[in-house]
Amino acid sequence: MTSFTGRVAVVTGGTKGIGRAVAARFEAAGATVVTLARSEPAQAVGRFIAADLASSADIVAAFKAVAEEFGRVDVLVNNAGGARPGRALDYPEEAARAAFDLNVLGVLCAAQCMYPLTPEHGGASIVNIGSVAGTRPSPGTAVYGAAKAALASLTKSLALEWAPRVRVNCVVPGPVLTESLTAYYGGPEAAALVGQGLPMGRMAEPGDIAGACLYLASDEAGQVSGAELLVHGGGEAPRFNRESGAAGRAAGTGGK
Ligand SMILES: NC(=O)c1ccc[n+]([C@@H]2O[C@H](COP(=O)([O-])OP(=O)(O)OC[C@H]3O[C@@H](n4cnc5c(N)ncnc54)[C@H](OP(=O)(O)O)[C@@H]3O)[C@@H](O)[C@H]2O)c1
Repeated sequence: MTSFTGRVAVVTGGTKGIGRAVAARFEAAGATVVTLARSEPAQAVGRFIAADLASSADIVAAFKAVAEEFGRVDVLVNNAGGARPGRALDYPEEAARAAFDLNVLGVLCAAQCMYPLTPEHGGASIVNIGSVAGTRPSPGTAVYGAAKAALASLTKSLALEWAPRVRVNCVVPGPVLTESLTAYYGGPEAAALVGQGLPMGRMAEPGDIAGACLYLASDEAGQVSGAELLVHGGGEAPRFNRESGAAGRAAGTGGK
């Protein structure tokens, strides 16, 4: 695998969960790592710069600091993201705008700030962190899913416009066993049960997502741009095959 020695990797939301694992993986591969988040952790991976990734002013200031200190950016992992869950009917407008600010507009702004800092001869790469919620709607994820779908589209547009100088790809995780997701499911045992329902029999670990990011940013992926790499443990069996007798009978499968 490519050595990232001499390359600068910026990881947004690189202080917890998936982002921290991504930052650690790039550091282990030799990169100089910069992590951006709102609060400084007790022990940061790489150089920490405080920034709210939903604020274009903060993003511009953070990349100015990166430019002054390191002079270049080779890898940008747009990992900071998320949105409060909630049904579409009464989802607050302010929260919906905040979700798009963080998951879409913040990513666009970070990419715009990164571009002039990339080598003109190519080799730089952006990896966006999407979600299966952006490809498969489910109740309670209307706004989050819409924002991640927009991010997937933005990924492909940037890949077209910025080739061959910057490759742009998206990692699309299913559920990933982070502290926040474990809390969301009500604890480690409940989270493990959800994982057992996946074809691979477990949820992804943050390191699984980090591995996908490292590959997409590496020279081995030199011809990969505009791609969505699903890391979802095999996905989901369609419920209508197992559980809907009507659908099963219509398909002649007896509901299996
Ligand atoms: N976990 C999953 O199951 C899962 C599944 C699919 C996709 N994803 C996606 O993966 C990404 C990471 O998720 P995660 O579960 O690892 O999250 P997490 O554990 O909650 O960590 C989020 C990270 O992002 C930072 N962050 C959050 N809001 C920010 C903001 N406005 N500005 C700057 N930094 C911010 C946090 O630091 P501060 O709070 O200090 O700012 C933290 O470093 C997200 O884009 C999420 O949508 C996660």
